Amino acid sequence: MDFIGANILSVSQFERADIERVFEVADTMGPYARREKVTRVLEGAILGNMFLEPSTRTRLSFGAAFNLLGGTVRETVGISASAMAKGESLYDTARVLSGYSDVICMRHPQEGSVAEFAAASRVPVVNGGDGANEHPTQALLDLYTISKELRGHGRTLDDFRIAMIGDLRYGRTVHSLCKLLCLFGSVQVVLVSPPELAMPEAVVEQLRAAGHRVTVTDQLETSISGVDIVYSTRIQEERFASQEEANLYRGRFRLNREIFTRYAQPNTVIMHPLPRDSRAEASELDTDLDEHPSLAIFRQTDNGLLVRMALFALLLGVEDKVDRYSREVCWHSRRNPA
Ligand code: NCD
Repeated sequence: MDFIGANILSVSQFERADIERVFEVADTMGPYARREKVTRVLEGAILGNMFLEPSTRTRLSFGAAFNLLGGTVRETVGISASAMAKGESLYDTARVLSGYSDVICMRHPQEGSVAEFAAASRVPVVNGGDGANEHPTQALLDLYTISKELRGHGRTLDDFRIAMIGDLRYGRTVHSLCKLLCLFGSVQVVLVSPPELAMPEAVVEQLRAAGHRVTVTDQLETSISGVDIVYSTRIQEERFASQEEANLYRGRFRLNREIFTRYAQPNTVIMHPLPRDSRAEASELDTDLDEHPSLAIFRQTDNGLLVRMALFALLLGVEDKVDRYSREVCWHSRRNPA
């Protein structure tokens, strides 16, 4: 695909070569993400960050990624802080905001809303999550993480096994990740959820049509025993009709050190898109795994910066100019290595 000026709305728009290009560019962003070097390649460019649902890492990493490339970020956070609370349409909002921005990242509670917004925007729009539908940049950073973590395991993106656990019905990250996996060779996918929160049938069909082996189960212990990646997810309580209904499922699958040690292979990689629900009644990914070397959740968030920097560089056509506009930083950070 031609990245310059493109919207990023769904992973279905990518071919394998596009993903590989994003990863290749992401690999070059390390010194900037770690603040060893600074680049001004996007000096003068403005990112409009419009987040109409709660977010910490997606919003901040989009913003930080744009800043790290030398651009400026303007934000609107929460529907109540925007004129949408006064009844303004997606169309009008897009026409206005795209006059103030060179690229827009948007998160919105309704499926399809970001695409509707993008149709009226005069600048590229990146989907930061539209309801339960998709979260394409999360899937890219997840796949980038999987590819890095698999190195040294004798596995590749064309031959590995993954268990996805939790709310597979409303979890947009797993919808996008599964669709992305369809571009790769032979993946064994174990889908672990209560039957009521199963992966949408269309996504399962897509995986099977791509030649992947799919198992559907509601058993956590047995499903993590033979996989390379365990991908845990949060019950998407905001998508349920009531909190009581969501509470029926919170805490249903709990991955902790004891279960992991007993059932998984020691080098199985543990992932989660975050936020994990760490309240006692949920605790889907226990903090007693925090020091475990297999826990990749914070490597995932660090990788998110690299992948989002790569996307911005590609969308604005500067991926080959980043170094030309760079210099060493002159200050010292106390940050400890990961
Ligand atoms: C996810 C999301 O918003 O879909 N978080 C994220 O962007 N990393 C997952 C979630 O909210 O459970």
